Amino acid sequence: MSTPGTDRYRVRPGGSVGGTLTVPGDKSISHRALMLGALAEGDTHISGFLAGGDCLSTARALEELGVRIERPAETEVVVRGAGAQGFVPPRAQLDMGNAGTAMRLMMGVLAPQRFDSTLIGDESLMRRPMERVAVPLQMMGARIHTHQGRPPVEIRGTPHLRAIHYSLPVASAQVKSAVLLAGLAATGRTEVTEPAPARDHTERMLRAFGVRLLREGRTIAMEGGQRLRGTRIAVPADFSSAAFFLVAGCLAADRPLTLTNVGVNPTRTGLLELLRRMGADIRVQPRTAGGEADAEPTADIEVRRSALRGITVPESLIPNSIDEFPVFLIAAACASGETLVRGALELRVKESDRLATMAAGLERLGVEHQLLPDGLWIRGSEELGGGSIDSRGDHRIAMAFAVAALKARAPIEILKVANVATSFPGFVETAREAGLAVEAL
Ligand code: S3P
Repeated sequence: MSTPGTDRYRVRPGGSVGGTLTVPGDKSISHRALMLGALAEGDTHISGFLAGGDCLSTARALEELGVRIERPAETEVVVRGAGAQGFVPPRAQLDMGNAGTAMRLMMGVLAPQRFDSTLIGDESLMRRPMERVAVPLQMMGARIHTHQGRPPVEIRGTPHLRAIHYSLPVASAQVKSAVLLAGLAATGRTEVTEPAPARDHTERMLRAFGVRLLREGRTIAMEGGQRLRGTRIAVPADFSSAAFFLVAGCLAADRPLTLTNVGVNPTRTGLLELLRRMGADIRVQPRTAGGEADAEPTADIEVRRSALRGITVPESLIPNSIDEFPVFLIAAACASGETLVRGALELRVKESDRLATMAAGLERLGVEHQLLPDGLWIRGSEELGGGSIDSRGDHRIAMAFAVAALKARAPIEILKVANVATSFPGFVETAREAGLAVEAL
């Protein structure tokens, strides 16, 4: 675990990486396993659970709603399902911490309950847009109030929601999932059409809980009123956490760097394609051969040092690599030639405005770049400068700049890193094991 109170990293410049690593469990899948387990009848056994701050916020909120959750081991969880009608009214506001996924998916869980609830979060979460979820839920008959589109989210429980056919204006797994979760309690057939395939963990997991769900092209259809049955969920290692080491390996592996048991759901692995287009030597060895069609695929991923070249990022690859952009932009900063990202407006509403936060950090390291309204242009260079980077409390930006130190000529200090523990507890230890000279202060 990161040392409590850690708020700064100091990373020595240069060095090399290699070896075999396993990163913690997938955040998206861990959230969903808790929520579906809570809505199910019977017990759900979760292994490989991400014991990071975000998922612990989800667990605490569910406990506040009367769900019994046990942690027999650090990464093992048993959820004693309460059933769709089994929650009790919370005694206080539900604090989702830094977790956007938790807040948005819980809106879908709470809208059809027989009681009222209010969702709040930390400073970053209180600034994030929630209207994108409130709007379709309101179309279903939910009574939800936001404050200029932001939290606190006040929900007046409305047990009789109506199914709708909703066309998502942007590719968002969170919005899709919230509508499906509310749709479970609605009368009729809920249909969601997505403009591009966003991560499909909810759909896969609903099926594992016994829900019948159809996919036709870009549309997912599900009848309301179906019951969930508790099950076993094995959470793979988080591709988004592995991403930092994939880039580190490209930049500075002196021997192969292997990441084991990584979730390689194709709706998540856009970064592999982006790095390959840049010239990366990455080999994916599948582990889950011929399992159930809906099981989450996993693989061991081996990366070798590669001479990266800048690219123009195809917009179609953005939804499936959205969380990996901070570290992808570090790869671009260290590549030869120019990289251009456009059509990435969503990056402005993540844990921080990731376009602005990355541009400010790259500026500090002396990287030639231009911040665009919906993207970034970067000219890569062989060597980066050092200095002090403000991560603005954004976990993925903090970890991305730790990787940048591999190519820096002076130490990099990264500020406001406490939120790294929301998605990657033990990052410093794993990074050191890989060879990064990072120290938590
Ligand atoms: C997530 C969906 C994505 C992603 C987030 C996790 C999820 O957000 O950026 O980190 O677990 O559903 P959007 O749905 O807003 O694209």
